[in-house]
Amino acid sequence: MKNGSVYIETYGCQMNFADTEIVLGVLKKQGYTVAQNPEDADIILLNTCSIRDNAEQRIYGRLGNLKNLKTKKPELVLGILGCMAERLRKDLIEEKKIVDVVVGPDEYRRLPEYIDIAFNGDKGIGVKLSRTETYDDIEPHREDGLSAWISVMRGCDKFCTFCVVPFTRGRERSRSLNSIVKEIEDLSARGFKEVTLLGQNVNSYQDEENDFSDLLAAAAKVDPSMRIRFTTSHPQDLSEKLLYTIAEQQNICNYIHLPVQSGSNRILELMNRTYTIEHYLNLIEKAKRIIPGVSFSTDIIAGFPTETWEDHLATLDVMRQVRYDGAYMFKYSPREGTKAYKMGDDVPEDVKTKRLQEIIDLQQQISYEINQGLIGKEEIVLVEGFSRKSNEFLSGRTDTNKVTIIPAQENIKPGDYIRIKINKATSATLFGEYLSHIVFEKSSVVLSA
Ligand code: 5AD
Ligand code: SF4
Repeated sequence: MKNGSVYIETYGCQMNFADTEIVLGVLKKQGYTVAQNPEDADIILLNTCSIRDNAEQRIYGRLGNLKNLKTKKPELVLGILGCMAERLRKDLIEEKKIVDVVVGPDEYRRLPEYIDIAFNGDKGIGVKLSRTETYDDIEPHREDGLSAWISVMRGCDKFCTFCVVPFTRGRERSRSLNSIVKEIEDLSARGFKEVTLLGQNVNSYQDEENDFSDLLAAAAKVDPSMRIRFTTSHPQDLSEKLLYTIAEQQNICNYIHLPVQSGSNRILELMNRTYTIEHYLNLIEKAKRIIPGVSFSTDIIAGFPTETWEDHLATLDVMRQVRYDGAYMFKYSPREGTKAYKMGDDVPEDVKTKRLQEIIDLQQQISYEINQGLIGKEEIVLVEGFSRKSNEFLSGRTDTNKVTIIPAQENIKPGDYIRIKINKATSATLFGEYLSHIVFEKSSVVLSA
């Protein structure tokens, strides 16, 4: 079997970034090395995203650039991984003739075989979806660092009518709790300080009698100095047990990403989201009661088919009621093969643009007000390194995932937990001053001067 050096570019969600580490794990086991830039690679792979049309257009643009590289170096193997591989295999191979390998999210184990086929001058195509593949036994390739992603389940059974994920990533299946805990133990031993458990719908996690709350609790117990985050939660499946688990474990972050998508019950029904706004707001209230200081982020779609001005106002209204710390906000993008695609795309582009802008402006105002309210308060920050703008400042994040900047000083290192006092805030960033270090020991918090 021939091998060489591989360069992977990753687009889209955190799940794709976690998958890239799995792919590199598979390839490294076969003797491939990792190239630091595309010019040095024998194989270039794009791990792609299909969630919205603009994601796909960007990747087509990138393929256009890579064509030049391939013209100069015809033996170069160019491949597409991820959701676009699943959705557009024919188009990619037949029309975009420069692609040699097309492998979907459930066939990464066999990627070396498909690359071999390409080295021999044929096209390597693997796009079967699986009901069981979780890559449980594959050790992902991770550079040293503070923060790691672990995908704990794959696929989605929700079939929201706008979404391609159930088609590109297949049915839901969970990894075993034991192998996830073992992976967190290894990360802790390597000095990682933060783990994010990933799944399209983590609340459906199930490993024999263990549900997602059990997994979170087990993850949190590995190392009290390690922060545990998770994403994404579906409002229908988020249980009270999970809220109590978050409240009980100090190192599970008090931050829930809970996509609402729309504030209108009529639209939620057309989206097949399976909850009402009343249920959603109830859940938010319950979470606020059970987890003091909890913060929320969300996903919102503007301009879903048939969305009226009143529907749009209902979305703005929900944003005002919940007061999200942050939001990912999108214009509706019709995806072929989904149910919503058949509903047409009847909200005109300029109306979508206007509604999205109103949503963004409102969110920015809310984030600003929330952050202003933190001035004078104390927070615990996990220090990540120098700030992007200057080595005179350090950057880290609070438990609720807010980027925080403090003046650098000798005794503060990446990976330290420090208590800070906030003295300035914008809608996106907190600024603070150092108060003291915090040391976490088994089962208790010890303050040091
Ligand atoms: N158009 C716009 N946004 C979409 N999302 C998913 N599918 C679409 C689409 N067709 C958004 C949803 C989801 C997030 C990951 O992407 O808000 O929660
Ligand atoms: Fe897509 Fe809905 Fe599944 Fe999220 S829950 S991946 S939006 S189908």
